[in-house]
Amino acid sequence: MSNFFKSVFGKASPKQLQVLPQNVTIPIEPGKTLLEAALAAGIVYPHDCTVGNCASCKSRLKQGRVREATPFGYTLSKEELDAGYILACQAFPRDELTVVELDSPSESLPPPGKFAATITSTEILTHDILRVTVKTDGPVNYVAGQYANLLVPGASRARSYSFANAPQRKGRDVLDFYIRKVPGGEFTEALFRGELNGKPLGMEAPLGTFHLRGGDAPMVCIAGGSGLAPLVSILEHARVTKIKRRCTLLFGARTQADLYQLDAIKNIAAHWQDHFEFVPVLSHEPADSDWSGARGFVTDHIDARFCLGAEGYLCGPPPMIDSAISRLTQFGIPINHVHYDKFTDSRDLNQ
Ligand code: FES
Repeated sequence: MSNFFKSVFGKASPKQLQVLPQNVTIPIEPGKTLLEAALAAGIVYPHDCTVGNCASCKSRLKQGRVREATPFGYTLSKEELDAGYILACQAFPRDELTVVELDSPSESLPPPGKFAATITSTEILTHDILRVTVKTDGPVNYVAGQYANLLVPGASRARSYSFANAPQRKGRDVLDFYIRKVPGGEFTEALFRGELNGKPLGMEAPLGTFHLRGGDAPMVCIAGGSGLAPLVSILEHARVTKIKRRCTLLFGARTQADLYQLDAIKNIAAHWQDHFEFVPVLSHEPADSDWSGARGFVTDHIDARFCLGAEGYLCGPPPMIDSAISRLTQFGIPINHVHYDKFTDSRDLNQ
């Protein structure tokens, strides 16, 4: 019976969603996105922003057609779209059966909780990046690479920052963040003036799905600006747990004055269990300066020699991520082996 006759003579049965690799099939109530249907059915489906910004819910469409609430191309790269990825939070089913496949089910990621927190200290890392140390009223059970939402009382909205230390580094109730000053941004200007030191904050954490996957594939890590934070957390965690994988870390900054945490990176490199290469790349360093290292865009320095059989871990602004995805896949890294945390509206941009 067609849906027309069903709607005339009885209730149409809801469309179906099959989620792989769990191989679970569930109904999708009318007006619900694939993500809403999956979460309502209790499926652990990676997600974060739910508004099409973060790509945490990206999944491969294996069967059926979907309608895009907002175009997937705002967030997903051309390579991801070509590979059949969609955003489940922005997808409404058009066919009776929709089949999607998740790259890495996030069962292992801890659920978020709410904490009371206080800024205990700040340290200037560069002219516009501050290390902010926060103490919470209980341990935050996060995985390296994830982030927290910080809420200042009276502020209109929370701000999102990645944890910058490995979970085991200082105990799970003392947490570091690298926060970039945004000119005119009420929150970060107050932070840099020291006005928030000792003030109570609300924190929701851990959030996000960016984390180190298992296995022994070489790692290609690419950071831009304050996007170094989750990568330092991941690399410190890998160092402490003595993970044995080749690693290349490319760090893009504007000038020498924008490089930071070089001692922390040196320490990671010195104790790394396999080959570790660090390549800082400066995009706006004066031509006549004493800098003898790499220049240009950080993604111009992605090289076939360290991409063979590797996984990509990226954190930075969207153009850097999109360009890195393009280069890494050109050098043979499968798109589902490229993991990233793309700055969205509240990270590094407009606070
Ligand atoms: S949860 Fe779908 S894009 Fe963020």
